[in-house]
Amino acid sequence: MKGFWFFTVLVVFLFCNSASAKLSHYHPQYDSARKLLSVEDDANWASLMYKKLKIPRTFQSPGKDFLGEVSLHDVRLDPNSLHWIAQQTNLEYLLLLDVDSLVWSFRKTAGLPTPGNPYGGWEAPDVELRGHFVGHYMSATAQMWASTHNDTLREKMTAVASILFECQNKMGTGYHSAFPTELFDRVEALIPVWAPNYTIHKILAGLWDQYTFAGNNQALKMSIWMVDYFHNRIKNVIKEFSIERHFQSLNEESDGMNDVLYRLFSITKDPKHLLLAHLFDKPCFLGLLAVQGNDITGFHANTHIPVVIGAQKRYEVIGDELSKAIGMYFLDIINTSHSYATGGTSSGEFWYRF
Ligand SMILES: *[C@@H]1O[C@H](CO)[C@@H](O)[C@H](O)[C@H]1NC(C)=O
Ligand SMILES: *[C@@H]1O[C@H](CO)[C@@H](O)[C@H](O)[C@H]1NC(C)=O
Ligand SMILES: *[C@@H]1O[C@H](CO)[C@@H](O)[C@H](O)[C@H]1NC(C)=O
Repeated sequence: MKGFWFFTVLVVFLFCNSASAKLSHYHPQYDSARKLLSVEDDANWASLMYKKLKIPRTFQSPGKDFLGEVSLHDVRLDPNSLHWIAQQTNLEYLLLLDVDSLVWSFRKTAGLPTPGNPYGGWEAPDVELRGHFVGHYMSATAQMWASTHNDTLREKMTAVASILFECQNKMGTGYHSAFPTELFDRVEALIPVWAPNYTIHKILAGLWDQYTFAGNNQALKMSIWMVDYFHNRIKNVIKEFSIERHFQSLNEESDGMNDVLYRLFSITKDPKHLLLAHLFDKPCFLGLLAVQGNDITGFHANTHIPVVIGAQKRYEVIGDELSKAIGMYFLDIINTSHSYATGGTSSGEFWYRF
């Protein structure tokens, strides 16, 4: 564990857009830290990376010391309340959405027939973020179903999930998205793309919610297959180029990939999932918080809040105390110097100095 954070601190200022201007020297230790990561053994790279990084084999989850969450399945709103009306509005909105329109670009990408019409806006067939709304839809419907047990909604969300499964199967590699893999080729070549890992996070989180709130086991299998695909791609980037190349790509918004991967690891216990989660623990930001640098000014709040939530998940899943300290320190900064009277923390999505 310590090794990981040692490494993290070394690279802390290297890879964030907003921090890179502050860098004047490459720390010589950095190259040896990198060597630890260029493991030759293909099959075992995950477990080798562990050993080198001295992450203990048995994880101590703080599990039972947390407040227990009340399941959404056990909570119902009073039909005479404003909250119920709001929930009902949300339910009716979700029921309005059309299955064929939602999955249109997924079918197109998989080379399947595309009945119906695609949605517009950020879901339009030529927008690089397409598909992210479908991830949100799967999360929203899963939680709404758990909160209402409205079976009309369940049928719809299950239909969406099973069409997505057809699309993933048709593509046959595990890759699963409403845009082609070419966008990831561009990410890896450091050519600007509009946040494809952000969209992948939304889809993974949606599948996770379908699995946890609605018991859809196929959704879990789909996400494991997806993660295998991305694991291989990221491994290739690191082997072919370097770990810093991977961290450079983290400058693009990748949202709570660490969070969803720690969740996945908590069930699968697959070291690959843990390793991949670590690789999304954005060092230039979490490292800054780890050394208690009170300087989040200039960072994009939307990108980095999910990364800190992922750090908190790391603590909850593997009991890593430093991750807990990071989350608490972050909240202190927000609470003491980065909050507006409205309760918000950012302006135009960014943190500013006052
Ligand atoms: C689901 O909710 C909608 C909107 O309130 C309602 O019309 C429909 O009958 C509900 N479906 C079921 C199965 O209860
Ligand atoms: C995004 O995903 C690709 C998978 O092809 C990976 O190579 C890249 O490093 C990822 N990184 C980020 C943070 O976007
Ligand atoms: C935030 O700051 C206020 C006032 O300084 C304090 O009373 C409160 O406990 C703090 N909350 C957290 C979550 O730290």
